Amino acid sequence: MKKFLAILMCAIMALGLVGIAGAAGEKVGVSMPTKDLQRWNQDGENMKKMLEDAGYEVDLQFASNDVQQQLNQVTNMINGGCKVVIISAVEGSSLGSALDLAKEKGVTVIAYDRLLMESDAVSYYATFDNYMVGTVQGTYIKEKLDLDNAAGPFYMEVTAGDPGDNNANYFYSGAIDVLKPYIDAGKLVIKSGQLAFTDVATPTWKTEVAQTRASSILASFYADGSNIDVWLCSNDSTALGVINALEDAYDGEWPIITGQDCDKSNVKKMIEGKQSMSVFKDTRTLAAQVVKMVGQILNGETVDVNDTETYNNNVITVPSFLCVPVFGSADNYQELLIDSGYYTLEDIQ
Ligand code: BGC
Repeated sequence: MKKFLAILMCAIMALGLVGIAGAAGEKVGVSMPTKDLQRWNQDGENMKKMLEDAGYEVDLQFASNDVQQQLNQVTNMINGGCKVVIISAVEGSSLGSALDLAKEKGVTVIAYDRLLMESDAVSYYATFDNYMVGTVQGTYIKEKLDLDNAAGPFYMEVTAGDPGDNNANYFYSGAIDVLKPYIDAGKLVIKSGQLAFTDVATPTWKTEVAQTRASSILASFYADGSNIDVWLCSNDSTALGVINALEDAYDGEWPIITGQDCDKSNVKKMIEGKQSMSVFKDTRTLAAQVVKMVGQILNGETVDVNDTETYNNNVITVPSFLCVPVFGSADNYQELLIDSGYYTLEDIQ
């Protein structure tokens, strides 16, 4: 019996090793949208390192926010022998032909942070709870202005994200769902009248694009010296644009400004008192989750997901793993970002 058990144990260990050996050494593609924003550099480098530490060969590419470039890069990854490709899309609906090729060649596609739309070739999605990001921003505004008790009215403007990024609508809706009752009650007033997502969106998420729109709103609606109490911004790159516009052409009381990502420049702005809050999405957590997914895929194991209902890409509902975003501000950045080893103090000085 003992001998049988020993043989059984050896067989199980050997199978395990075969599993690991089968996966290690495989090639994994990582396609990030751009090097322009801090977060994608961080996500890409983090993932490369973790995947390499796990024994995989990694092809990491950044697409300069250019759809055609990303299409070529992903196609090359698939033709170059990657068994899994991890993609954060420049534009969610534009990688169709590369995704079809992945399906044809049996390559598993993981959508990273941004959902890949209009395709049944997407196996998994790993992201942060995008709606919750917006809820955290909206709830901060609601509490900061004490909207349940204060009489108001308070003046608010809104800057949202890229319409080509499926996340942008979730961020926007999460925040607006919290604030809508106060807008309807007239406690929050949008002086520009621009509230619909299409009116407040920022194509490509670019700071300059957000700045141009904010400057034009300031010139048209606030040049008479009236106050803005809050500027809801979906993320840090757009918050920077709004801050620049306000610094250029606004003399009133500094408004509440929201953000997302805890980018280094924005942590500086929070410490200076120019940005009120951000939402921290620890890219180490997301990268680690994706590396785990890759191992499970390549070893033929069940892949961990925690949401099978929310993310429909207009063709299929993609099994997802949602990480939890966390409130960040000048009050908790030390613990959240420095003590946790995410940044050094020099990074944000
Ligand atoms: C990400 C955000 C980021 C934005 C701009 C979104 O898809 O989820 O974290 O701020 O893209 O890069």
